[in-house]
This record gives sequence, C-alpha cells and structure tokens, in this order.
Amino acid sequence: MARILITSAIPYINGIKHLGNLVGSQLPADLFARYSRARGHEVMFICATDEHGTPAELAAAKAGKPVDQYCAEMHDVQAEIARGFRLSFDHFGRSSSQRNHKLTQHFAGVLADNGLIREVAESQVYSIDDGRFLPDRYIEGTCPNCGYTSARGDQCDNCTKQLDPTDLINPHSTVSGSTNLEVRETKHLYLMQRSLRDKLEAWIDSKHDWPILTTSIAKKWLNDGDGLQDRGITRDLHWGIPVKRGDQPWPGMEGKVFYVWFDAPIEYIAGTAEWADANGLGDDAWERWWRTDKGAADVTYYQFMGKDNVPFHTLSFPATILGSGEPWKMVDYLKSFNYLNYDGGQFSTSRGRGVFMDQALSILPSDYWRWWLLSHAPESSDAEFTWENFQASVNKDLADVLGNLVSRVTKFAKSKFGDAIPAGGAFGPQETALIADLGARIRTYETLMAEMEVRKAAAELRGIWVVGNEYLQSAAPWSVVKTDPDQAQAMIRLALNLIRIYAILSAPFIPDAAASMMTALNSTDWTWPSDVHAAIRALPAGHEFAVPENLFRKITDEERAEWQVKFAGVRT
Ligand code: MF3
Ligand code: ZN
Repeated sequence: MARILITSAIPYINGIKHLGNLVGSQLPADLFARYSRARGHEVMFICATDEHGTPAELAAAKAGKPVDQYCAEMHDVQAEIARGFRLSFDHFGRSSSQRNHKLTQHFAGVLADNGLIREVAESQVYSIDDGRFLPDRYIEGTCPNCGYTSARGDQCDNCTKQLDPTDLINPHSTVSGSTNLEVRETKHLYLMQRSLRDKLEAWIDSKHDWPILTTSIAKKWLNDGDGLQDRGITRDLHWGIPVKRGDQPWPGMEGKVFYVWFDAPIEYIAGTAEWADANGLGDDAWERWWRTDKGAADVTYYQFMGKDNVPFHTLSFPATILGSGEPWKMVDYLKSFNYLNYDGGQFSTSRGRGVFMDQALSILPSDYWRWWLLSHAPESSDAEFTWENFQASVNKDLADVLGNLVSRVTKFAKSKFGDAIPAGGAFGPQETALIADLGARIRTYETLMAEMEVRKAAAELRGIWVVGNEYLQSAAPWSVVKTDPDQAQAMIRLALNLIRIYAILSAPFIPDAAASMMTALNSTDWTWPSDVHAAIRALPAGHEFAVPENLFRKITDEERAEWQVKFAGVRT
C-alpha cells in the first residue's frame, strides 16, 4: 500500500467553470484518486477555490457584492457542482483561509530570512481615471510576444508567456476601459528566482518520467534567457493575504497583499491543513503528507493541471519550496493537459460559449459527461467537443455496449432462472478463453491507469466491456437454454459476475453507474479483480440479484440539435 497525495489546480473563484476547465485538472485528478483508492492505497486528494487576485475582485465588482461575500458564495456554488460531478476531494478548501494566510506569510518570511527576497522600486501602470494601480488582469493590451490583442497584464492566454503590465502594447484599464494611464513608482517584494535557477534545473532534470508537455514547457522557461526572472510577489490590492514577514509586520509593505500566484499553490498545503481542522485532527495529520521530516518521505505526490499552469508548478512554486530550505514534499509527477475546444472554436467564459458545469448537470447525469470527457481527454494534443461525437460516444459506449449488457443479462437471468444466480453447468472453453482475455486486458488497464494515460485507459475499459458483449453474442445463452439449460446457467453465472467486475473496473470513470450495478448484484465487495479466476466466481450460485433501472439512456437527434443551438452563444 502506497501513500498518494493528489492535487488538482485550484479553480478561480470567479464563476462556474466550463467542461474544458473540468477535464484539464479536477476530473482526471478524481479519476486517479478513485483508482488509487480502489487499489487499496492511502490517498489524500485536495482541491480548493483560488480566491485572490484581480479575477476575484473584478467578478465581485461585476456582481455588485463585497469580495469576501462573493467568494464565500461562489465557493459553496463550486463545491456543490463538484459534488454533482462526484469529484471525490478529501477536502475542497479556500485559498482565503486563515491556514493559507499563515502559511503564505510563513514562506515569505523564511524566503526573506534566506536572502531570497529583495525590495524593488517598480514602475507600475496607474489609471488616472480609476484612481488606482492596474496590476495583472486590471489591464489588457497586445502581447509583445505573439501579438494577441487581449493579453492580460500577468499572462498571455494565447502563448502562455508570463507578462508584466508594462510589457503590454496599447494597454487599457479593464475596470473602465480608460487608456488614460501613466507609469508610477511603487515598492514591491521580489522573489529572487534567478539565484535558484541551478537548483530548479537539477530538480527538473531529475524527473525522468515527466510527460514531454510538462518538461518542454519547464525547460523553455528555464532556458529562454528571460524565462526565469525574479518575480514580484506582492500587489497594490486590498483583497488578498496581507504582506507580513512570518507573523511580523513588513515595514514599507503596509496595505499591500501577496500576489495570487504566490499564495495559490501554497493552498495545496494549507488545504490539507484545513482538512485536518475540519476533521478535528492535529497538525501531525496533515504534516505527514507534506513534511518529509514528519512522515511524508514515503508519499508520492501527483499534480494535475492545464498546460497554462505548468510554468507556475515547475518553476514558481518549486522556487518557493526550494528557497525555503525546509523539508516540504515536492511534486513527483506532474500531469498536464492541452485544451478542450468547443464545436469549432474555443470555450469562452467571457462570452459564455460552450457548456458550463452547472448546465451540463442540468441536462444529463454526471457519468455521461465524465465518460465523454475522460475518454476524449486532451492529452497528446488539443481535443474538441462536438455534440455529434458526444451523442455517438454516449449512445454507443455507454448505452449499447455497457448498459445493454447489464440489462440483457439481468433480465434474461431473472426471467429464466428466478431471483438468484443459477447453479447448473460448468465453465467450458469459451469461458476459459474469456477469463484469460480479461486477465490480460485488466493488467493493461492497470498499467495505463497507473501511468495516468487517461484516454488509453478509457479505450481499454471500453475494450473490456466489448469482449463481454462478444462473449455473450457467441455463447448465446438465450439459444443454448433451449438445448442445454445447464450450460446456459453456467454462462449466466459468469455474466452476472462479469457485471460486478465491470462495476469495480468502471467506478473511477462512471461512479454512479458502477454503484447501481453493484447494488443490482446485491454486493458490497469492491475488491479489485487482481485474480480474475476468483473474481468471476465471487458471487456464488444462490446469491440473489435484481434488474437495475436502465443505466444509460440514448441521446436523441432532437436533443442533440436542441443543445447545439442552446449552447452556441451567450450564456443566459
Ligand atoms: N486558478 C488557476 C487557474 O485556474 C490555477 C491555480 S493552481 C495553483 O488557472 F497552483 F495556483 F493552485
Ligand atoms: Zn502572447
């Protein structure tokens, strides 16, 4: 049994996330958490809302609410939707928690003690009409790197380059649209990442098993010449974690807060502390996940995120940790994703284009979405959601292959043999061949799941469902029952056990359907089918079962057409 720490990139608080956000971090992280638990590992799965910075302030202003109230409300909304998607976080925390305040201030303090923080008199863009500085998303303009015209002050969404507001060409205020801007002096703290460059490089080079997407982005920022600048970690904003040096005031920094990207990843740790608090446990309970001097040396830590987050997780956050000189657990494996596009374009939060998490759940249960999203995860390249593809996958994989097998077998068994698993006959060559085939496929599935090859694992799972159908097709118990009822009973005994095995294997992808299958089989035995020979005999003759409600319904052409129109434009 291993100890597995899993974090998903923490979603911004400003509004409900779309399916592209979901499949880029939270959902695959959940898949891996569920699988790891199913294999008997001890898992800690943490996510949270990312509540600071300009996105939160701007969204609260737009909603006409005080920012703290807005964040509290939106946290509950996001938590509820996460439950709807069956995201099995051990804790869904808040980056605005007191735990994160304390830890963030602690890190800044030790970094300063280690000589890694310097004060910089900085030129910042000041909006005369708005009467304030315009950090990060308060300012937009043209990206000096790629020419994208809606680049934000902190990062270009198009080329992922990290920017400073003063880099932007033709900038304007996103508060008022004003271009009446000037550059003013203000003092900020900088984390001296440059002096950590060699340590960071050695650390990245030690990660031989990272995916190409991850290492190539990390290396690019490390070697680009201007890739690893010292970074400002404070801002002239009101909402955020007050700048302090540990628990001491920081002279000259009064009224300033830490930059959101400084405190957000620290929330992975703070969120685990929040988990301990919520469960009435002491500090040792969370420290054994995070402090290598307190038990975390045998933890394997996996992070999940979209590709735009990779620089922050391979350089900025590791710089915080390495610079602290303290024995914090660092990430072992970083799984990053490309983008999911929507029907010939991009998902767009600002334009309301695409399907948002709450809308998705309002039209179909979460399993349908989980299956499509995970089986089409944007791993090796960007992927695209189309309604045709969604309809085809759901109708074929879920309804025709898996759902049909379950209903056909249970209904037939009930009508011919009654309420309990029949006892007659014995397994013959066809059954033996199926068991061998399943054994090999399950081993492949295990490997792919352990490697977080999400799409390939989904394809293997689908293959495992298909061989069951093929077996039934060729064994044809519905015909055999007329000539050799004992043999038909053996086939059905196998098929009912197969449904239980499918429930266990499928649960990480489609937990609700898996639970219905297990309930129909009247079992609570979720033991992983490491030994297929034993697993296929787990439910004995005489064991009662039920016919479950239809597991999956088909999506009609009319529905598809209706949804296509409904989600094409502006979110209402
Ligand atoms: N909120 C960020 C985003 O959605 C992700 C923050 S991840 C963390 O892009 F590391 F900062 F926590
Ligand atoms: Zn750009």
